[in-house]
Amino acid sequence: MVDRFDSTRRRFLRWLMGTSAGAFLVAVFYPVTRYIIPPAAAESAASSVTLPFSPADIAPNTAEIFKFGNKAGILVRTPTGELRAFSALCTHLNCIVQYREDLGQIWCACHNGHFDLNGRNVSGPPPAPLEAFTVNVREDEIVVSRD
Ligand code: FES
Repeated sequence: MVDRFDSTRRRFLRWLMGTSAGAFLVAVFYPVTRYIIPPAAAESAASSVTLPFSPADIAPNTAEIFKFGNKAGILVRTPTGELRAFSALCTHLNCIVQYREDLGQIWCACHNGHFDLNGRNVSGPPPAPLEAFTVNVREDEIVVSRD
């Protein structure tokens, strides 16, 4: 009787140890694996976007950041009143750029990269120009599209 009880208890303890070890391994390795291998993000498929502001909202020598698919864009109204749009991802290490009214340039704060109002990289580490988008104004709407 004692042997049978010991055998059952041993099997239960072995089962418990096995499942605990398995649960421990899953608890440790699942988050590590999810961190190392991030979920596949779909590339931005947007080819055109209507901006959530009107042309009158953008004063000369200012800019607005907007969402272009799952990426950021920047709409600049030049000091002469022209609307221009670019990808807001710096071509150096993908920081979001901003408009510097004092310089009249698009600027990346991460490593002091500068772009002119044609999106050309003019100083700092960015190796390439910003991707330029097409801007169409239709009455009170601004539509930005990728060629
Ligand atoms: S990420 Fe823009 S200058 Fe480095």
